[in-house]
Amino acid sequence: MTVRAGLLRKVELSRGSARGDRRALRWQHLVDVTGERPRGVSGHGHGHGHGHGHGHGHGHGHGHGHDPKSYDALGNPEDLAAYLSKLESPERAEWQRPDDVVRALGLRPGNVVCDVGAGPGYFALRIAREVGPEGRVYAIDAEPRMLALLLDRAADAHIQNVLTVPSPDGAALPPERCHRILIVNAFHHFPGADYLGMLADQLLPGGRLVNIDFQGGELPVGPPPDHKVSREDFLRSAASVGLELVEEHTFLPYQYLLELARPEGENPA
Ligand SMILES: C[S@@+](CC[C@H](N)C(=O)[O-])C[C@H]1O[C@@H](n2cnc3c(N)ncnc32)[C@H](O)[C@@H]1O
Repeated sequence: MTVRAGLLRKVELSRGSARGDRRALRWQHLVDVTGERPRGVSGHGHGHGHGHGHGHGHGHGHGHGHDPKSYDALGNPEDLAAYLSKLESPERAEWQRPDDVVRALGLRPGNVVCDVGAGPGYFALRIAREVGPEGRVYAIDAEPRMLALLLDRAADAHIQNVLTVPSPDGAALPPERCHRILIVNAFHHFPGADYLGMLADQLLPGGRLVNIDFQGGELPVGPPPDHKVSREDFLRSAASVGLELVEEHTFLPYQYLLELARPEGENPA
């Protein structure tokens, strides 16, 4: 398993460091990150030994509805630069309510958190600040360009407690047990119960797996209806690997937010 520390990649910032310059450079870098490597990732898209596959070929602008484009085997749009800018767009906060989500996670300084399908770090970076220097965030993603960008953004923000975990087989696990395992807008990219069970095995006693994903039907944001995993289907998958719903939050306008845990004693210390 490869785990990379947040500051291994250094971002070259302009000497003047004026805000506008920094932003321009970041987006230039984003284009570099997304343009310099071959598109798509080998070894995905046809299941990975866990009874499920992805490559369902949707994309969702997360704030811009969905439109017909081409998508890679991970369900990410081929135009990754545009996708990334949508994932990180300021408008997303209006419906994603990241501060409220992070508050709902009930984190404490020093907690260990894993973000699965972390993308460029919308939540991983916020959570890294929340758990503080004594805590750690493992950011798992099957798309290396996402993790490359996440590391650069962490370096830019002087965040040192995010460690990336590449997931070339689409089923990587955090290298230690966690207080929280978070999946945001990502489970529908890898909708298998087996991986969910393997992740749940990595929870500390009292730990919770938190899934946030889009409600069914046509919405102004998110994937097309036939690519979503409904709340009920997710709960069925979770139950099949011994996860029980312990808390549900309903403040998000377009998504369900479910906290699950193994019954007490099943994840012993
Ligand atoms: C819609 S993005 C969500 C990113 C992030 N969680 C957020 O809320 O901004 C879905 C992410 O899941 C990743 N992904 C797709 N299949 C995956 C898999 N099998 N394992 C890990 N990540 C995967 C994609 O590369 C992408 O970064």
